[in-house]
This record gives sequence, C-alpha cells and structure tokens, in this order.
Amino acid sequence: MQHHGVTIAGTGSYVPARVLTNHDLAKMVETSDDWIRTRTGIEERHIAAADEPTSALAYEAACRALDAAGMKAEELDYILVATFTGDNIFPNTGCYLQKRLGAFNAAAVSIEAACTGFLYGLELAANLIRSGNYRNILLVGAEKISSLVDWTDRNTCVLFGDGAGAVVLKQTTPGHDCLKSVKLGADGRYTDLLRTAAGGSMKPLTVEDVASHQNCIKMEGREVFKLAVNAMVGSSRAVMEKAGITHDDIRWVIPHQANLRIISSVGKYLEVPEDKVYINIQRYGNTSAASIPIALDEIVRSGQVKRGEYLLLTAFGAGLTWGASVIKW
Ligand code: UT7
Repeated sequence: MQHHGVTIAGTGSYVPARVLTNHDLAKMVETSDDWIRTRTGIEERHIAAADEPTSALAYEAACRALDAAGMKAEELDYILVATFTGDNIFPNTGCYLQKRLGAFNAAAVSIEAACTGFLYGLELAANLIRSGNYRNILLVGAEKISSLVDWTDRNTCVLFGDGAGAVVLKQTTPGHDCLKSVKLGADGRYTDLLRTAAGGSMKPLTVEDVASHQNCIKMEGREVFKLAVNAMVGSSRAVMEKAGITHDDIRWVIPHQANLRIISSVGKYLEVPEDKVYINIQRYGNTSAASIPIALDEIVRSGQVKRGEYLLLTAFGAGLTWGASVIKW
C-alpha cells in the first residue's frame, strides 16, 4: 500500500516587539558590538515580554501559518511544539498553544531536541500524516530563550533571541510528498557541552542554584562550534544523496542560525554559493527550534522559492542533536 503524501500548506513566524541590540548588551556585560558581529554575525535579537511565554509566541506564528494554509484551528488534528523553553516543565506547551488557538479537535504535545527540534518534529509530523492517522498537523518551533539566559555571562547572553516559526502540514495524494529525505543524529556523550546545570530531576533547584545561575544556559562554545560544522555537513550530504540530488539542485540551504561562521563553513563544504545560503542571524540571533521555520517563512512570504525547487534544511544543537532534510517545495 502506498503511503499518504505530505505537503506544507502554510508557513508563519513571529518575533516579539522588543529589540535588544549589541550596543544594549555592551552596557550589561564586558563585550562590544564589534566582538559580537565579527565572532557571530549577530547585530540584534528580539526579547519576549514578561507576560509573553513561549506559547504566546507560538500562537502568533501558528495563526499566520493557518491563515496562509486557509485553515481554521478546529481543523487541526495534531499540534506539535518543538521547544526547550516551554511555558512550564509540565503540562506540555502543545496544550497551552491548543488552548490559545481553541484547536480542541487536536492532540497536543511538545518535543525537546533544542536547536534541532524543528527537524525532529518535521519527520515525526510527516510520518503521522503518512500513516493515515492524521490529516492536518501544526508544527511550531518556538522559544523564549531569554528566560534561561544568564544575563551576566558574556559567553552566552549575546547569542540568543526569542521567536517562533510554524508550518501547517497537510495530507495529500500518495506519491506527492514534499519531504524527500531526513537524516537525524544524536550523541549523548556530549550532554555537558550545552545544558542547564540545575532545575531538572537530576538536580532540583535550590536557592543557591538560583543565586549562582545554575538554572541558566551553560555552553562550551568552542567545542560545540567544531562539532556543529561536521554534523551539519555530514547530514546534509546524506539527505541530498537519499533524495537523489546534488548541491547544484539546491535553491536554498536553510541552516540553523547559531553563528555566521558556522553557516559560512557549512555552505563552503557543501559547495553551495553564498547567495543560496539563507542568513537572518543578524536580526534574530540564535532562536533555537524557531530559527529554521522563521527563515523558511521569510523565504516563502518574500516569494524567493518556487514550486518544485529544492530546500536543504540543516540544524545542530544541545544533546548533542543534529539533522538535515530535503524538501521539494
Ligand atoms: O545552537 C547551537 C549551539 N550553539 C552554537 O552553535 C554556538 C557555537 N559556538 C560559537 O558560536 C562560538 O564558539 C562563540 C561565538 C560562542 C564564541 O566564539 P569563539 O570564537 O569560539 O570564542 P572563544 O569562546 O574562543 O573566546 C575567545 C575570547 C575569550 O577570551 P580569551 O580567553 O581569549 O581572553 C572569551 O573570553 O573571547 C572572549 N569572549 C568575549 N569577548 C567579548 C567570549 N564572549 C565574549 C563576548 N564579548 N561576548
């Protein structure tokens, strides 16, 4: 029996209103606009308001994606939110988003694969549709990373931003599947390179932990950097081969936006010209699971991709996790 096909019926994205520039950060920690720009490519990032949790960002992106798909929230039968900065430890952020949308015919769950979350979610959602059990799935990558940033740590506080990106995936006729290939990976031997050190069941939060910011993001940046390029390039090559295409066929590489130098290296190794590698890190910083769907939405809305063209998505993040996917638009 042939599986059902999957198509992306609509995209949407949202970033909160408040902008935090490199110059603003230079007043908070020992850093400079020049250091941040040259080492990361970031110029500014958006920061969510105190009363704006991750599900509020996800809601705005989801409404735009539903609108683009011409679909009502009640038509959704599954909601999947990729995030590591959920509204609460539990219940899952999918349920908070479901409530905001009024999408009460949908199952709702969140997954956590940090910056690779959108790609992990994409394969899950596609297979739920292919199985025939679900027809209309909302997949959102949404993060309020500012809630986990140590604003006294210059090694990490300059890197991250808040935002959300969404896609509506729809069942279509067998043989017409936009998701041509996916390759995901993980290596739990590197859990300590990028993490929070307290606040989970391994080390429940104490007053001392809060005072010393143990509940905030800690990262061995240089180590992560080295591993990121290899993993993104390796998985990208694997998905192109699986899809039966080469780098010449790619209209856009849409890399996770963690560092401009990582993005440039990935583009070079893949032999994709610079003008086909999508970059918006200067405006948003690293928005983790939201970065790929925000970029995808920008490309789609600005008319920079035509039906039938190939997109190569690739990401890397805490876990460590990584992955890539080829989409035929
Ligand atoms: O989403 C996926 C996860 N995250 C990533 O992919 C991030 C991967 N890593 C990176 O992007 C880079 O490693 C960073 C941007 C985090 C750091 O860049 P780097 O070129 O690897 O710098 P470094 O960590 O080797 O630090 C170089 C120097 C250090 O000073 P010393 O020890 O040489 O005196 C740091 O203390 O830069 C210093 N430094 C800063 N200086 C000014 C670190 N952060 C800052 C800062 N401003 N914000």
